[in-house]
Amino acid sequence: MTANRKTPDTLLAQLGHFLDGETGGLVPPFQPATTFARHEDYAPISPQHIYSRDDNSLFRLAESVIAQLEHAEDALVWPSGLAALSTLVSALGPSRPIFVQRGIYYGVTVWTRRHCERMGMQLIEFDGQDPETLAELAEAHKPALIWIETPSNPWIRTVDIARTAAIADAHQSLLVVDSTAATPIHSQPLDLGAHIVMHSATKSLNGHSDVLAGVLAVRDASLPIWQDVKQDRHDAGAVLGGFEAWLLLRGMRTLGVRVRAASANAARIARFLADHSAVETVRYPGLPEDPDHELATRQMQGGFGSLLSFDVRGGRERALAVAGRLRTIIRATSLGGVETLIEHRHTIEAGDTGVPENLLRLAVGIESADDLIADLDQALS
Ligand SMILES: Cc1ncc(COP(=O)(O)O)c(C=O)c1O
Repeated sequence: MTANRKTPDTLLAQLGHFLDGETGGLVPPFQPATTFARHEDYAPISPQHIYSRDDNSLFRLAESVIAQLEHAEDALVWPSGLAALSTLVSALGPSRPIFVQRGIYYGVTVWTRRHCERMGMQLIEFDGQDPETLAELAEAHKPALIWIETPSNPWIRTVDIARTAAIADAHQSLLVVDSTAATPIHSQPLDLGAHIVMHSATKSLNGHSDVLAGVLAVRDASLPIWQDVKQDRHDAGAVLGGFEAWLLLRGMRTLGVRVRAASANAARIARFLADHSAVETVRYPGLPEDPDHELATRQMQGGFGSLLSFDVRGGRERALAVAGRLRTIIRATSLGGVETLIEHRHTIEAGDTGVPENLLRLAVGIESADDLIADLDQALS
């Protein structure tokens, strides 16, 4: 930790030692105005406040805290994670192919497939567990972008960020890491060589299932693509609303404690499930027997995240019956909130991605692990 770099918990709890200049308030004031008045000589009353699509002190504060958390030179927030992805990919243009990891968040797969088809862009979906083949593909196609998600969702596979960054650098490709499931508490992709880290801030960063938001944070803000993305956000208007930015800031203050509590719960639940006779497989890098345990231990700090999947013995109907019998855990999509959610991803992904029909994804929250385990136990029995 450098002298001027605060530890994440201090940075987050105080939002970078925020104090309202006018009142001394510890909480950022919410300013709902979309437009701001000028003086008689037409100079703005506040040069930072002209029109809220241009600038907004609440989303600027969120960006500054996130940039410090991610060891980034700059960060931008968006009205959703997918708005961040779509602005970035659109700004790259169609001249070079893009590479997207297989078996990641389905919304990213669906959007990039449709976008590339419409734009006549080449899209190559690759196996995140096979860097040799990725290196060969990159050598042959010189992609503009390599997009990885680690841990991936819902397969919960860990991708070697440093190794993928070396492949990207060898071909002047941009490596973007979707670090939503890892969170800035457990992973620092920019320190491992990624060029941009992305989050669906809808998940752990906000943490309370009441805001849609996205983040891109960049290691080197002088990259031309970063300047384009920044300009496009301003010009095309994919900005986060002030109230959403305020809620995001409020949620972020407790990010560290929430993430560590949820990760500790997930680790206990993963062990319980792995030892249960009604469960075929548990996918969680925190388990010593997981194929990615060694890599995840090297690449993540302080925990392995709150997302895990498990395959129920007996197939689709049995998995759906287990989900249906839960009384504490809630059947709903999303992850990274304080409440524990379960999802049958095959239903969502419509058999499009090979996700097993007996797989259930658990997005673990911060409730009592004893209650969550008792609920799973009664549902599996
Ligand atoms: C890993 C991951 N990346 C990106 C997204 C998309 O984010 P949003 O829903 O905020 O657009 C999601 C949403 O579930 C996600 O889980």
